[in-house]
Amino acid sequence: MDREHFYATMNGEGTLDYELYLNTKKLLSCQKDFSEFCNRDELQFQVVHQIEELWMKLIGYTLLDIDDYVQQENTNRVLTLFKRVHIALKLMTEQLALLETMSPKEYQEIRLVLGNGSGQESPGFRTLLKMHPHLWDSYKKNYLEKHGLTVEKIYSTEYKHCDAYVVAEALAEFDELFQKFRYHHLQLINRSIGLGAKSLKGRSVEILNEGMRIKFFPELWEIRSKMTDEWGKSYGVVRDSIGGH
Ligand code: HEM
Repeated sequence: MDREHFYATMNGEGTLDYELYLNTKKLLSCQKDFSEFCNRDELQFQVVHQIEELWMKLIGYTLLDIDDYVQQENTNRVLTLFKRVHIALKLMTEQLALLETMSPKEYQEIRLVLGNGSGQESPGFRTLLKMHPHLWDSYKKNYLEKHGLTVEKIYSTEYKHCDAYVVAEALAEFDELFQKFRYHHLQLINRSIGLGAKSLKGRSVEILNEGMRIKFFPELWEIRSKMTDEWGKSYGVVRDSIGGH
C-alpha cells in the first residue's frame, strides 16, 4: 500500500460537520507528524497516553458531578455516574495491554526521545489524586452524620443495604479500580523495561510502591477486617471442620 497516500488522507480535511464538531483536525494533529516518529510503535505510545488523559478528564469531571449529587443525596444519579467512572477506569486499565504489543527494544528507542517526561506529571492523574478527600467529606456529612449513621452501623450492626451502604460500595469500587490500574501499570513496566533495572532503583520504584499502598477511603476497607475479627471471636483463628473431624 502507498503509505504516503494513506498518511495524507488519515487526518481528513476537517471541514465536514462531523469533523468540525469533534475538532478532528486538531485532535488528529496532537500526535507527532508521521515523519517524526522514532519507530512504528511510537504512534501507539502517544495515542494510548493521550486517550488515558481523556478518560481521566472525563472521570474527574464526572466525580465533580457525583459530589454535587452526593450533597443532594440523589442516590440514583450518584450510582449511575459512578458506573460511568468505573467503566472508564476499567477501560484505562484494559488499554494498558496495548503497550504490551511493543517489544522491549522498541520501547527503549521511544524512551530515548521522551526527555524527562514522567507519568507523575500527568495532569489527569494528579487531579484525580486530589479529589477523594472531598468526596469522602461530602459522603460522610450527607449520607452518614446527617442520619446518625457510621460506617460500622451501615455495614454491620444496622446493616440493611440502605442508600448509604450502596454509595459506600460505589466509593469502594472506585478505590479498588484505581488500585487495579496502578497494579496493571506496574506489570506493564515490568513487561517493558523490567522493574529490576538499575536506572529505576530508588525514587521510581519507591513512588510506584507508595502508590500501591494508598487507599482513598481507608475506613471502607478497615470495616471488613474489623467484621472478620469480630465474627471470628466466636471460633478463634482456626474453625472446627464442618465435617466434624
Ligand atoms: C511502556 C509503558 C510505560 C512505562 C515503561 C511506564 C513507566 C513508568 C515509571 C518507571 C514510573 C515511575 C515514576 C518515574 O520514574 O517517572 C511511572 C509512573 C507513572 N506512569 Fe507510567 N509507564 C508507562 C505507561 C503509562 C501509561 C500508558 C500511563 C497512563 C496514564 C502511565 C501513567 C503513569 C502515572 C500516572 C505514573 C505516576 C504513578 C504514581 O505516582 O503512582 N504510564 N511510569
